[in-house]
Amino acid sequence: MKVEGVPLEILRTRLSEKWSGFAPDVLPLPVAEMDFELAQPIRDLLVAMALNSDTGYMGNTDALTRSFADFASERWNWIVDPKQFFLCSDVGVGTVEMARTIVQPGDKVLVNSPVYLNMYNWAKELKCEIVDAPMHKDGMHYTLDLAAIEAGYKQGVKIHFLCNPQNPTGTVHSRAELEAIADLAAQYGVYVFSDEIHGPIVFDEETFIPFLSISDNARQVGVCVTAASKAWNLAGLKCAFIITGSDRILALTKSMPPSVRFRASHFGAQAAAKAFECTDWLDGMMETLDRNRQFLQVQLENKLPKAKYRIPNCTYLAWIDMSAYDLGENPAKAILEAGKVALTQGHLFGPDCSSFVRLNFATSEEIIAEGIDRIVAAIKVLHPSI
Ligand SMILES: Cc1ncc(COP(=O)(O)O)c(C=O)c1O
Repeated sequence: MKVEGVPLEILRTRLSEKWSGFAPDVLPLPVAEMDFELAQPIRDLLVAMALNSDTGYMGNTDALTRSFADFASERWNWIVDPKQFFLCSDVGVGTVEMARTIVQPGDKVLVNSPVYLNMYNWAKELKCEIVDAPMHKDGMHYTLDLAAIEAGYKQGVKIHFLCNPQNPTGTVHSRAELEAIADLAAQYGVYVFSDEIHGPIVFDEETFIPFLSISDNARQVGVCVTAASKAWNLAGLKCAFIITGSDRILALTKSMPPSVRFRASHFGAQAAAKAFECTDWLDGMMETLDRNRQFLQVQLENKLPKAKYRIPNCTYLAWIDMSAYDLGENPAKAILEAGKVALTQGHLFGPDCSSFVRLNFATSEEIIAEGIDRIVAAIKVLHPSI
């Protein structure tokens, strides 16, 4: 199935954050939303629900549990127990509410920078201290640093917020790394929250490993928080889920207020149930993203040869080091002002990231090319001699 980028003039009529959050002359390439049309069965379902004024409270969601479990078993060989599946409104809320059952203000949570910026906000919301175990960086290739993680665990960390697979570096963690983390977490009494929202968006050269599928240790320490919202572009519909793999962790889920579940939306739960069946659309979308990640590399080589970029193994977010262009403290801000293209600011992802920008390539080749042209134009304004 072919999944193509929607033309710019239509995108500009969207009301979502990406398309309404910037001035009309700005090309927006931050915010992890996709510029594709929804999978047809999801569109049909949402239209039918609206036409039927089926806009009340969320009803039975067994179909969602089943469709996720089927997807997880077929794609990842991971058997999910329906009794260990718990709905919430989004990954952020699920993570924070579940974490509240474990941490007190002042406790320590561990992250691996550079990492999804809201992990810092979740820690702040929980009034927890952040311990960073930065990813090991080899050129532009990032991997988990197990020694740094163990050193962090030794400091009395309660929860490890693991981004599996990783936004923004595009790294897919290996089975051996995840096994080692599960063993260390069991040894040091740490809970591992595996944020797997990008799990379905892993390219063919890599294999996504759900944390809870790893080992008994992983199931004793692990919490998976995930959603259909990234891979099928449903973030506005508000539905995510927490999955556990042991009675020990299930007891934590059960201790959360029932409102956590009821704050998910009826549209979100129905759309997510349909999404996990839309595997043809997902495969078509992955082919488009595969072309785009390579197209972006050619664009950068030709037009911005000093930018550092490694083709990501997952998701649709390019992590680009702009340090060679000397764009100051905040390259994304400088580029936005001088070139009218919005990128996500690198410093939000952690320390030592201020020379980076993150670019969303879930769009058309035309928009990617236009985005790069605007970055080039911005650099010419900022450094006329280049
Ligand atoms: C790793 C990661 N987790 C969570 C989210 C957001 O999920 P939600 O909107 O369900 O909180 C994102 C969004 O880009 C993400 O990249």
